[in-house]
Amino acid sequence: MESQPGLNVLFTDEEIQAAVKKLAAEIREDYQGKQLLLVGVLKGSFVFLADLVRFLNVPLEIDFVWLSSYGRGRENSGRIEVVLPPRCQVKDRDVLVVEDIVDSGVTSAFLLEYLDKKKPASVRLCALTDKPSRRQVPVKIDYLGFTVPDKFLVGYGLDWDEKFRYLPDICVLEGEG
Ligand code: IMP
Ligand code: MG
Repeated sequence: MESQPGLNVLFTDEEIQAAVKKLAAEIREDYQGKQLLLVGVLKGSFVFLADLVRFLNVPLEIDFVWLSSYGRGRENSGRIEVVLPPRCQVKDRDVLVVEDIVDSGVTSAFLLEYLDKKKPASVRLCALTDKPSRRQVPVKIDYLGFTVPDKFLVGYGLDWDEKFRYLPDICVLEGEG
């Protein structure tokens, strides 16, 4: 990647691909004989989900939810709104939530509880990155790509004010947080 002001590469494209491939192998093994329903959390998970399904390369369904937390800036206000609920039926399905990052944990904890109320056969969480130092509510991450430091990350789907989602690498946005 060409260097841009304020961006430092944390994980390269190659490192991410290797991690996603490893996650896919684990998930494929665990869900043998089951019909997975992957639920991507918009917008941040779209790049990760697109790579994950191709490494999984097994029959599965894909759906999306769009959640927004009230408030601006880096802090999660703790109040989540379901902007776009899942279209697929969740009842009796083996659901795997696909998240870009677990930060405070508020979003993932909310979504897991929200989906659980719809009586799935199972519901688990797959997160590309985990920032445990920022956790406010406990969240069990069943499949994790990277543990990351308390820095603001962009790229590979992650944005800062809708910018930088297109970057193939995951970068630290310097001067943020
Ligand atoms: P939560 O604080 O765990 O609820 O995370 C809420 C959402 O904030 C995540 O799904 C991301 O979309 C976003 N987020 C948290 N940390 C970062 C970051 O470092 N870069 C970009 N987005 C982030
Ligand atoms: Mg998100």
